[in-house]
Amino acid sequence: WESPDGRPIRQRLLVVANRLPVSAVRKDKDSWLLEINAGGLVSALLVKDFEARWIGWAGVNVPDEVGQKALTKALAEKRCIPVFLDEEIVHQYYNGYCNNILWPLFHYLGLPQEDRLATTRSFQSQFAAYKKANQMFADVVNKHYVEGDVVWCHDYHLMFLPKCLKERNSKMKVGWFLHTPFPSSEIHKTLPSRSELLNAVIAADLVGFHTYDYARHFVSACTRILGIEATPEGVEDQGRLTRVAAFPIGIDSERFIRALGVPQVQKHMKELKERFDGRKVMLGVDRLDMIKGIPQKLLAFEKFLEEKPSWHDKVVLLQIAVPTRTDVPEYQKLSSQVHEIVGRINGRFGTLTAVPIHHLDRSLDFQALCALYAVTDVALVTSLRDGMNLVSYEFVACQDSKKGVLILSEFAGAAQSLGAGAILVNPWNVTEVAAAIEQALIMPAEEREKRHQHNFEHVSSHTAQQWAEFFVSELNDTVIEAQERIRR
Ligand code: G6P
Repeated sequence: WESPDGRPIRQRLLVVANRLPVSAVRKDKDSWLLEINAGGLVSALLVKDFEARWIGWAGVNVPDEVGQKALTKALAEKRCIPVFLDEEIVHQYYNGYCNNILWPLFHYLGLPQEDRLATTRSFQSQFAAYKKANQMFADVVNKHYVEGDVVWCHDYHLMFLPKCLKERNSKMKVGWFLHTPFPSSEIHKTLPSRSELLNAVIAADLVGFHTYDYARHFVSACTRILGIEATPEGVEDQGRLTRVAAFPIGIDSERFIRALGVPQVQKHMKELKERFDGRKVMLGVDRLDMIKGIPQKLLAFEKFLEEKPSWHDKVVLLQIAVPTRTDVPEYQKLSSQVHEIVGRINGRFGTLTAVPIHHLDRSLDFQALCALYAVTDVALVTSLRDGMNLVSYEFVACQDSKKGVLILSEFAGAAQSLGAGAILVNPWNVTEVAAAIEQALIMPAEEREKRHQHNFEHVSSHTAQQWAEFFVSELNDTVIEAQERIRR
């Protein structure tokens, strides 16, 4: 990508995701306070060779035109473009089809009971809302698209988007990346709208997943459900190829490593060390979501305390459970369940001066989080299924001096990259996780060092920036190859 005089051209990129990477709070009739949530993808797109715009929902309901105009203007300064979704669409599309149907299904938790029959009204109206919402995203993309742009669609919220975009402009370069697992084709088969969704996704030029297994499941679903051909590159339907490949995401590891040198973070670390002096620190950081296996983690910790009384008072589990999707009933039930288990364990094993579990129902700011990662002896990631799980990467990035141990679910995508350094567990097997906790707590320094080194090398050499560059360059190549094939 060079101009005629040899200067590199920044690739124009439209990133489309359900949620914009900002928190928007309305200050006034026509003013908004915005804060950028700097995840890996954001840093990758803002820093690197992309001229990127981000299209998505700002997570707030803005019914009035004055508010919409003001928010659009404020977001433009952050290179973000809003899609306005009203409350009813959010209810049916986001809470309903996305988070009550696709999310649990893609994580092997099945379809909700009342929607098992495709004929129920709620399933049909939620799917209609899903398609309508995807069309609304497409309309905004079309408004901002300039010939030659790369359009990169993200996640399970927008599986219909590639089709909407290609129907309008078959020349548009469209990629789609899934941040969750793609389940076995036998699971996907249970979804009433299984074929419509697959057909919509394969309208893209390039389809990407975190792991090779997810890509393989997707290809099987296409061959078994749609009856189309699998090729070494992906799937082929009536002579049109859709490339399917694995692109494992990473984090901006430098950002975490740099943070550890900041005085405020060091102050936090010192406070935490003093606070938990004499006790080993175990840490869980999760969104409060059923896929994260928080109840299973707590039960394993309870079993460990039951079986190893000598550890009472010598270990503490800090569990940060960030509330999420709180309008969905399943998430409300989970919250009560977790509180009940924490209460029971603290009641059983606590003393007048200390409790074994500190449970927080909120997020931490970046600096406090880095400090916590850095002072942790053992991180516990027990997802029942997880697309990748970047908490495990963040922990590793912050552990260069301590060389703490990572206990990692074999059902997280990260198990495929950090498996050799972590202790891998089946989170459903409480006895196995309890034994892993003990193994991690008593692991000799030499072994910890070796395992950490393995993980640290991976995390620092597979970054979010490289991931984004790789996906976009593969998308450009895929389109060029397809054009050449047509010419031949
Ligand atoms: C997962 C999804 C993301 C989503 C995030 C937070 O990581 O893959 O697309 O943004 O959860 O969930 P929320 O529903 O709050 O956007």
